[in-house]
Amino acid sequence: MSVGPVLRVRGMTFITFEGIDGSGKTLQAKLLKRKLEREGINVWLTEEPTRGEIGNILRDFIGRRLKLREETVALLFAADRLEHIKEVEEKISSGFLVISDRYLLSSLAYQGSLLPLDWVEEINRYALEKLPDLVILLDIEPEIARRRKANKGFFDTDLGRLSRVRNLYLAVSERSPWREITVKIDASKSPEEVHLEVLKALREKGIL
Ligand code: TYD
Repeated sequence: MSVGPVLRVRGMTFITFEGIDGSGKTLQAKLLKRKLEREGINVWLTEEPTRGEIGNILRDFIGRRLKLREETVALLFAADRLEHIKEVEEKISSGFLVISDRYLLSSLAYQGSLLPLDWVEEINRYALEKLPDLVILLDIEPEIARRRKANKGFFDTDLGRLSRVRNLYLAVSERSPWREITVKIDASKSPEEVHLEVLKALREKGIL
């Protein structure tokens, strides 16, 4: 078991990126991975929904190839996450710093905007016991996010829904235990500027 590189990040082993569709999470997660690897840290980049069996069902739902009740969707996201946590823990114990593109806060914001938030928290109780060390919340106006994605030729989520999701992201991240671990960044800036803000957040948390 190699734990060497992780010692350089002072116990910080699990970082997640959150935000509405079009906030730039995927790019920022990749940029951070590259930067940390240059610092000699072993990084495992992962995502939710995962590429596993349950994640594939969720992708069919997201791609509208499958119709499901919202309650079922929430349970599937929770189940996908339970399997994911096992993998995350394995990677951490073999010396990796794990970066996940979306995690539990996504369910609280997305499913919580359609279903009772306390129920969404309840079905994710085990994930609440595996909180990230740092959550980077990329905050952006839904209209700007939509314009960004429209340039790439797709964006099908309605703005009203995304506004509710954004508001819930902001509200939940100000509550305990999220308040202590979340750093909110204005994601309307250029990718380079956002990346610098991400690095600043890591430095402030003593990760870099
Ligand atoms: P994806 O195409 O990966 O979008 P993005 O690149 O914006 O992350 O699809 C993920 C979608 O799944 C996104 O619309 C948010 C949604 N989602 C939930 O509703 N709940 C969750 O718990 C997670 C992890 C994702």
